[in-house]
Amino acid sequence: MRVLVIGSGAREHAAAWKFSKSKRISGLFIAPGNAGTEDLGTNLDIDVMNNDLVVKTVNENRIDFVFIGPEIPLENGLADALREVNIKCFGPGKESAQLESSKAFSKAFMKRNNIPTADYVEFSNKDEYTKYINNLNSKVVVKKSGLAAGKGVLESDDKNEMLEFGLKALEDDKVVVEEFLEGFEVSIFVISDGKNYKILQPCTDHKKAYDGDKGPNTGGMGAITPVPWVDAKLMDRIEKETVIPTINGLNKDSLNYKGVIYIGLMISENGPKVLEYNVRFGDPEAQIIFPTIASDFCNIMDAISEESLDSYNIRLTGDSAVCITIAAEGYPGDYTKGINAKIDNIDETDGLIFHASTYLKDNLVYTNGGRCFTVVSTGNNTLNACENAYKITNKVKFDGAWFRKDIARKFFK
Ligand code: AMP
Ligand code: GLY
Repeated sequence: MRVLVIGSGAREHAAAWKFSKSKRISGLFIAPGNAGTEDLGTNLDIDVMNNDLVVKTVNENRIDFVFIGPEIPLENGLADALREVNIKCFGPGKESAQLESSKAFSKAFMKRNNIPTADYVEFSNKDEYTKYINNLNSKVVVKKSGLAAGKGVLESDDKNEMLEFGLKALEDDKVVVEEFLEGFEVSIFVISDGKNYKILQPCTDHKKAYDGDKGPNTGGMGAITPVPWVDAKLMDRIEKETVIPTINGLNKDSLNYKGVIYIGLMISENGPKVLEYNVRFGDPEAQIIFPTIASDFCNIMDAISEESLDSYNIRLTGDSAVCITIAAEGYPGDYTKGINAKIDNIDETDGLIFHASTYLKDNLVYTNGGRCFTVVSTGNNTLNACENAYKITNKVKFDGAWFRKDIARKFFK
């Protein structure tokens, strides 16, 4: 199988790595890729927001299957453009992509399908929003409706801050104000072939920038899988109350969803509640999920294309995995790019280092984003996986590099 991975992040580096392990791979391309993916296949420097160009590139390189990593090309209709000309791909069409790209759309979907979620009010008018915030007497979160790379949510008690954030967002977007939910967060990844589904190991991301879950939200500073607090009974409840109604809702709307649906949950006192949907794998969650899948990725992709997921058994390695994001100085605020990074070689049995948006110049690696690398390690439990992952953080060195020191710690206090 000749495969093209779309994207340039650590999630796409991890996907390319997993495809590279397939016994059936006969060509691996990444567009645009990064300095890390260069070691695994051929990087194609094309504009992935130009759907016609992607189709042309697929045909020219005799590619059989396209794995679309990030949400933006999905929102831009890349999966539809590929399927229109019978090119198989992983990722939902533009209509379904609104589950992520519009909080207003996803909240309406949840309400229509009786999926438990936080109560909410939607605004498109500044005066109405201002009046609502000024009269508030309960704790809420304010969300931009559109895509915001994990930074579109404000949790604050300060009305001035809420007004500033919401009024700015309302200049070009809708705003959703939600009831504040207490509990612990779990991310569930559900693979769908348009009819059937399979649930992968649960994960927990660490969204706050700093140790102790302090500071602003980020795209994710580290993650673990599976989650020690999630037992079979809770998984069963999550499946019945959130996964099944989500899949039924997609099927009822004839969305023929072929890809992964990421359900961000808050496990509250009253059970699981959906915080958000994403229409792609999480980043950094993908970096730990892929190494814990034992099955051949090409076979999983075939089962999705052929709508035979019900009879396909996705085998897991049985390991726990932990990852840590290594970020540039200043992230999640303004950060510097173009910093030379030195990465030591490590043995895959010790761990993996995935690059995000890095590039090569004169054979040297340079950073090009806020979250620059993900280091990953596995173990027979979370504690071992975590110790192993921290051991390899010193294999990545660049000026201003930093990471959270407490990933997974709350699970074994
Ligand atoms: P979202 O992009 O909607 O998942 O929100 C990003 C993060 O903000 C979530 O992972 C939570 O940590 C937090 N968050 C979002 N909605 C709520 C809520 N209703 N109550 C409490 N925390 C929330
Ligand atoms: N790690 C959170 C996300 O991918 O949205």
